[in-house]
Amino acid sequence: MRILLLGSGGREHAFAWKLAQDPECSALFIAPGNAGTATCGTNVPISPADFEAIRGFVLEHGIEMVVVGPEEPLVRGIVDYFQADSALERVPVVGPSAAGARLEGSKAFAKRFMERWGIPTASYREVTDWQEGKEVLRAFSPPYVLKADGLAAGKGVIILDELEAAVEALRNMLAGQFGEASKRVVIEQFLSGIEFSVFVLTDGSSYKLLPEAKDYKRVGEGDTGPNTGGMGAVSPVPFFDEALRQKVEQRIIEPTLRGLQVEGIPYKGFIFFGLMNVDGEPYVVEYNCRMGDPEAEVVLPRIRNSLTALFRALIEGRLNEVCIDVSPQVAATVVLTAKGYPGEYRKGDIIELRPRAGCLYLHAGTRRDVEGRLLTNGGRVIAITSFADDIASAVAYSLGAAEDIHFEGKYFRRDIGQDLIHLH
Ligand code: AMP
Ligand code: GLY
Repeated sequence: MRILLLGSGGREHAFAWKLAQDPECSALFIAPGNAGTATCGTNVPISPADFEAIRGFVLEHGIEMVVVGPEEPLVRGIVDYFQADSALERVPVVGPSAAGARLEGSKAFAKRFMERWGIPTASYREVTDWQEGKEVLRAFSPPYVLKADGLAAGKGVIILDELEAAVEALRNMLAGQFGEASKRVVIEQFLSGIEFSVFVLTDGSSYKLLPEAKDYKRVGEGDTGPNTGGMGAVSPVPFFDEALRQKVEQRIIEPTLRGLQVEGIPYKGFIFFGLMNVDGEPYVVEYNCRMGDPEAEVVLPRIRNSLTALFRALIEGRLNEVCIDVSPQVAATVVLTAKGYPGEYRKGDIIELRPRAGCLYLHAGTRRDVEGRLLTNGGRVIAITSFADDIASAVAYSLGAAEDIHFEGKYFRRDIGQDLIHLH
């Protein structure tokens, strides 16, 4: 099978690394990819947002399946675009329709959907008017959680302790701080607990639970400082025990899939449930319509199945026949970032990498120059995934390997997984 994978992050390198191992995958192209994906297949300089260029490439190169890494093409309707084109409709795309991707693309849609289906989530109000919003905020208790309705490159959630600051932040958001995305704002009750992420693959009728993970979102150690795309991840999550798993499946995953079916929303792809464990009770913090990054860097390597076979089963509506085979080993990933990330950061610094046996180096913001030198090319540069029987050892391997990589301004968190170690 000839596969085109869209995206260029650590998640896509993890997908590419896994797909390249499948005998069924006869050719792999990555658009646009990075220096890491180039070792698994052929990078092609096409943006995942450029549907016309993707169309041309798919037809010219006999692509038989498209796998979508990031949310943007899904929210913008790449699945619908393929289905509406008589030349493309025979090419399956792994990912939901635009209607399904609204679970991630509109916070207000997701909250209303959860309300309709009785799925546990923080109570909320939607506002578009500042005067009204001020009154709404007064009725909530601190900390105040403000969410831009639309996609805002992971920056659209603001949490503040003071009412006055929240009122001011709301004014800026409604005035267009995140463009159209924040013309509508969801104000929700703060949930106090431990976050974790659960992933499923669904063909629209059945689903398969994939390994769960915990992500470390803040840039600073001890979960301080600004939010990032994710600084590291661990899988499995020790507190995700049988009792919590059952609650998540019965109260969250099953009603979500039932809701999609009853509402006639086609969905063949990943659903990422961002959850909060509040004293043993799971609540949905967010839905994403794709795999997480850096969660994919620990989840995909733990799955022993052929990904090509899984995707084929998904496309053919045969997921119910599949059994997910998960490695019992712990996987931990540590993300190396460029100085300044998630704010302004430099690109183009030379990376010196001496690989350690047993570690997986999953590239994110990297590229090779004409002389073949490896250069930084993004805020998150590379994720190092390691495996062991326990979290402490897996993290220790990745941290050791992180010390062995050199580039100007290299930064990484040394406390990935520390909060889970005593639970393991
Ligand atoms: P979201 O994009 O909705 O996942 O929000 C980004 C981050 O903000 C989450 O990963 C949480 O850490 C935090 N967050 C969002 N909503 C809440 C909430 N209701 N209570 C506490 N923290 C939240
Ligand atoms: N790591 C969080 C995300 O992918 O959205």
